[in-house]
Amino acid sequence: MLRIPTNITLSKQTATQLSKAVASFSQHGVLTNAPCLQLNIQAQLPHRQFSSTSRTRLREFFPEPEHGHQIQKTDAAWPHPSYGAEDLKSKIFFAHRQPKDFSDRVALFLVRFLRWGTDLATGYKHDVESPKKAGDENAVAATKPYQMSERKWLVRFVFLESVAGVPGMVAGMLRHLHSLRRLKRDNGWIETLLEEAYNERMHLLTFLKMAEPGWFMKFMILGAQGVFFNSLFLSYLISPRTCHRFVGYLEEEAVLTYTLAIQDIEAGKLPKWQDPKFCIPDLAVKYWEIPEGHRTMRDLLLYIRADEAKHREVNHTLGNLKQSEDPNPFVSSYKDKSLPHPGKGIENIKPTGWERDEVL
Ligand SMILES: [Fe+2]
Ligand SMILES: [Fe+2]
Repeated sequence: MLRIPTNITLSKQTATQLSKAVASFSQHGVLTNAPCLQLNIQAQLPHRQFSSTSRTRLREFFPEPEHGHQIQKTDAAWPHPSYGAEDLKSKIFFAHRQPKDFSDRVALFLVRFLRWGTDLATGYKHDVESPKKAGDENAVAATKPYQMSERKWLVRFVFLESVAGVPGMVAGMLRHLHSLRRLKRDNGWIETLLEEAYNERMHLLTFLKMAEPGWFMKFMILGAQGVFFNSLFLSYLISPRTCHRFVGYLEEEAVLTYTLAIQDIEAGKLPKWQDPKFCIPDLAVKYWEIPEGHRTMRDLLLYIRADEAKHREVNHTLGNLKQSEDPNPFVSSYKDKSLPHPGKGIENIKPTGWERDEVL
């Protein structure tokens, strides 16, 4: 009688190869049928050093962590405050704070210089007509991006977000260390600064679900972090106020970038992101608690832009305060509850920040 063996002992190497082959089959849709359209950056575009990930590897870039058997999920360290759907559109817009002193001008000059470098690095090209004044709707309409595509936007987002997560962490870390070594309280700044860094990293992780950078971009990110972290570290020790103003101006640019991307989607220039089958990552849906029916790329960018506007408000405000003695107005409660005050959400957001006498 013929016997079919049911127990086959595989060597470790063979087992690994086999599991890889099965994983590859499943990624090609043989074993699973993904209902969502994933943005396939590579398949339709010529090979470039940025975002050189093949479709099959793209989905595995940030696989769900294997928690073992007992943990179902790991919650976000800082749950995201909820944003009203109307507020996302009506209260968030490009705005520019006029520099008022030498320190402000230094911060603005540095941001403009960095912006020039980043545009070069991420291949961002547009007809720049500088935004004219704060809150001016035409300011944004007059800046017309061209030659952008979904892929180019993603390259820019990934690079920007990989840098954006640095300042909050540096500032939070230095204030933490200052508090420890000077035996002084911090007045609530550290939490907001670290939360900002965390929020920026969530932006980065969200975009990395859609595109993996190629080796050239990874190298640029590495270099940028090395330079940016160390310069900020030293600068923050010398003038924290200038650093907060610098971040405020940096966030103005971030709001502008996302506003232009949203405008591009609305104008029908980015068809892949308008495809009804295009799904934003689960990670983003959970983090921002994005309601059903509002899970398009445009919606996602509205949330992210609101976060950037929040960072802009926070840092411009912190730049107006006395660094060593003033409490953080964003986590404080106020005696007069009838007046609008700074908070974690965007209900009372002030695009160019709160002046010191408005919050203290
Ligand atoms: Fe961001
Ligand atoms: Fe930001």
